[in-house]
Amino acid sequence: MFLKHLQYLFFVYNPKFIIFANQRKSIIYSMKKIVFATNNSHKLSEVRAILAPCYEIISLAELNCFDDIPETALTLEGNALLKANYIHDKYSCDCFADDTGLEVEALNGEPGVYSARYAGDANDAKANMQKLLTNLGNNSNRKACFRTVITLIINGETKYFEGKIDGEIAKTPSGTVGFGYDPIFIPTGYNQSFAELGSNEKNKISHRALAVKKLVEYLKSNQ
Ligand code: IMP
Repeated sequence: MFLKHLQYLFFVYNPKFIIFANQRKSIIYSMKKIVFATNNSHKLSEVRAILAPCYEIISLAELNCFDDIPETALTLEGNALLKANYIHDKYSCDCFADDTGLEVEALNGEPGVYSARYAGDANDAKANMQKLLTNLGNNSNRKACFRTVITLIINGETKYFEGKIDGEIAKTPSGTVGFGYDPIFIPTGYNQSFAELGSNEKNKISHRALAVKKLVEYLKSNQ
C-alpha cells in the first residue's frame, strides 16, 4: 500500500509528467503527435500544412518551452542535432528540429549556417538581404541553393533528412509573401521570387517541403 502511494507521488511530482499533463493535447498517448523544436510561426505553418493529414505538430510554446536553445554548431546538421537533442533530453519526447541555410556559390557557400545572423544578431531579413546583394555585387554567377536539414529523434534513434532547392539570387528584392531571403531567391524553372510565388507554390517545391516529405515518408513507413 505504502509502495503504491510512493509510486503515485513520484508519478505526479515528476516534472516531465507535470509538463505533459499541463498540455491539453497529451503527446504521451497518441502516436500521431510530434514536437517540432521551433517557435517560428512561418515554419510551423509551412510544416503543419505539409504534415496536416498525418501528424499534429506540437510547437515549443505548446510544450511550455521558452528556452534559448543554443545553435552554436558550424554546420546545418550540427545545429539541427543540437536543437533536437536539447528537447529530447529535457522532455523525453519524440521530436524533430531543422536548420536551414542559403548557400551562394560565388560567396563560397555564404551565408550558409549563418543565414539568420548574416548582418548581425538581430535576424533582420532586410539587412541580411542587403548585405548579400552588396557582397555579390554584379557577379554574373548568381547560383544559390536553400538547404534544410531535419534531425528526427524517435524511439531513441537519430535520423537526418535533407531538402535542397537550386535557384538564383535576383538583383533586387521583389514580392511580399514569406520571410527571410524569399524576395531575392528565384527557384530554378521559375521567373518569380519565392516571395512572389506565394506559400502554396513554395510549399510544393521548397527545401523545407522536400526535407519534410522525406521525414513523413520515414514516419509513415516506420510507425
Ligand atoms: P532556420 O534555420 O530555418 O531558422 O533558417 C535560418 C535563416 O535562413 C532564417 O532566419 C532565414 O533568414 C533563412 N531562411 C530559412 N528558410 C528560409 C526560407 O524558406 N525562405 C527564406 N529564407 C529562409
